[in-house]
Amino acid sequence: MVNVLVTGGAGFIGSNFVRYALGRHADWRVTTLDKLTYAGRRENLHDVMADPRHTFVHGDIADAPVSGPLVEQANIVVHFAAETHVDRSIQSAGEFIRTDVEGTFVLLEAARRAKALRRFVQISTDEVYGSVATGASVETDELRPRNPYSASKAGADRLAYSYWATYDLPVIVTRASNNYGPYQFPEKVIPLFVTNAIENIPVPLYGDGRNIRDWLHVDDHCRAIDLLIERATSGEVYNIGGGNEVMNIDLTHRILETLDKPRSLITPVADRPGHDRRYCLDTAKLRALGWAPQVRFEDGLRDAVAWYSANEWWWRPIKEKDPAFRAYYEAQYGRRG
Ligand code: NAD
Ligand code: DAU
Repeated sequence: MVNVLVTGGAGFIGSNFVRYALGRHADWRVTTLDKLTYAGRRENLHDVMADPRHTFVHGDIADAPVSGPLVEQANIVVHFAAETHVDRSIQSAGEFIRTDVEGTFVLLEAARRAKALRRFVQISTDEVYGSVATGASVETDELRPRNPYSASKAGADRLAYSYWATYDLPVIVTRASNNYGPYQFPEKVIPLFVTNAIENIPVPLYGDGRNIRDWLHVDDHCRAIDLLIERATSGEVYNIGGGNEVMNIDLTHRILETLDKPRSLITPVADRPGHDRRYCLDTAKLRALGWAPQVRFEDGLRDAVAWYSANEWWWRPIKEKDPAFRAYYEAQYGRRG
């Protein structure tokens, strides 16, 4: 059996990856290590919690006595765990440094002691390149992160690389574009706007709404990571982009149209400070290994909207009953409108 450690496996992409991995690899034994922050939820793994090939460990990656032995026993580490929301990093950056940078350091130190580790996947982000006015970012471009979240991710990205360069650890770094799909915490734009629209409450569009994101379906992301685990070269960086550049205003129109809701729900609000205008990835390096996105954006978005519409049990308790979410929403949007 292959021992696979997935950090942050109770979050959005992590839980999709755990489900994908168990389905795809009969010889993988998957351990999820997750702190269950506000974004990490056991419900995200409800259908695989009882799988005999899956073990859930509730713990902090930065807690060396907990995370260390799990890394030491792993053959593959896929490190998703992070604080991930740009707006929260602007409100308060401390946890981002602690988890994204220090937590990654703790895992990498443990990886140096691992006896049979063959892959350490550092999940980075396209945000480390900063805003890209024209063209597409290639893996060798300079990193110019512009908010505390992306700066903390850039720190972890380069720290992981340094453990390959210095200690010859089998590290690869992936930089993906904006993911969408099921189980995404309803603070991120697609699940927030879909669920607000279902509730007939305003969808708060930042600034002029003309910022561009490149949307990647989470299933295509999982397939890319899986392929890279097998075919990547240690020490290398790989972009993973969906090739779907969409302006936020157009995205919002599509969501409202899919739900048959009026455009009058769109409420322009004050812009995000330092809001990156556009991200765009050159994915030639990954495509040369045999990957191409399989989910057309039109289909993926329609399916995602359908998933949130059919799974109110998942998001209503967060949005309606969790006082921490209400407090966040008030702090984020209360005075913006
Ligand atoms: P998420 O916020 O949904 O999930 C993060 C998970 O990490 C949660 O389950 C949380 O409980 C866990 N976690 C946080 N701190 C932890 C700690 N100290 N110890 C253990 N677990 C901890 O995030 P996501 O959107 O699924 O992103 C996963 C990874 O992918 C992140 O590294 C993120 O930077 C990267 N990424 C995300 C996107 C995107 O569009 N969502 C795109 C590119 C890269
Ligand atoms: O690009 C990859 C990154 O994508 C990941 O590294 C991050 O973890 C992930 O959160 C995401 O970051 P973004 O900041 O791009 O995602 P978010 O969903 O927060 O915002 C997407 C766009 O929508 C962005 O231009 C800001 C805008 N937006 C967002 C929110 C939450 C709004 O207009 N209104 C909103 O309320």
